[in-house]
Amino acid sequence: MGQPGPPELHVVTGAFGFSGKYIAARLLKAGHRVRTLTNSPTRANPFGGAVDARPLCFDDKAALVESLAGAAVLYNTYWVRFNHADFKHSIAVENTLKLFHAAKEAGVGRIVHISITNPSVESPLEYFRSKARLERALADSGLPHTILRPAVLFGKEDILVNNIAWCLRKFPVFGVFGDGRYELQPIHVDDLAGLAVDAGP
Ligand SMILES: NC(=O)c1ccc[n+]([C@@H]2O[C@H](COP(=O)([O-])OP(=O)(O)OC[C@H]3O[C@@H](n4cnc5c(N)ncnc54)[C@H](OP(=O)(O)O)[C@@H]3O)[C@@H](O)[C@H]2O)c1
Repeated sequence: MGQPGPPELHVVTGAFGFSGKYIAARLLKAGHRVRTLTNSPTRANPFGGAVDARPLCFDDKAALVESLAGAAVLYNTYWVRFNHADFKHSIAVENTLKLFHAAKEAGVGRIVHISITNPSVESPLEYFRSKARLERALADSGLPHTILRPAVLFGKEDILVNNIAWCLRKFPVFGVFGDGRYELQPIHVDDLAGLAVDAGP
């Protein structure tokens, strides 16, 4: 029997953040070589030397392509949750398109892209319209890809569901919008990571 080949390179955005950390942990467990592209290269690296960190340098295409070269899969979690005074969803869309272009130029084998439930260009919400635009761009790119559409994530580091749970434990009343009968199917962040890693080659 021949020697096993060198481990494949898998690149994940935001491995020091929320879902990216769980995806990176699963990739390491599966024996892959893992690199992260991050906006926080100086943040504590919970993986030590096991994860190589490179900057998400959207304005340096050559460096972005170089960081992605040879990657079997790119797992893209990059997004901003809210429009801020100095950072908008529209910038995140433009940056994500740059990431897709760089991945194509670098010859990345597949993109696993984390989107959102019910993205639509008709949505009154910019978050959902922007996500629909990115899904379209990825489909049009010709890159092999998988799109995951979670509704809401929960887990130890989550702030939304954990804060709601804290309020429910501490206060006798809790306000909900509308009639409160709408349904939502959350997913644990590690289950999403499992789906993402299973979608790689
Ligand atoms: N969290 C949820 O409940 C939820 C629900 C549905 C869908 N999703 C989708 O799942 C994906 C990942 O979500 P997540 O909660 O795991 O994200 P996250 O860890 O908070 O962030 C993921 C990536 O985006 C970057 N980022 C986040 N905010 C930024 C900002 N203000 N400026 C610059 N970069 C920023 C992070 O930068 P760093 O590299 O610096 O960490 C990281 O690379 C997103 O596409 C999101 O739309 C999330």
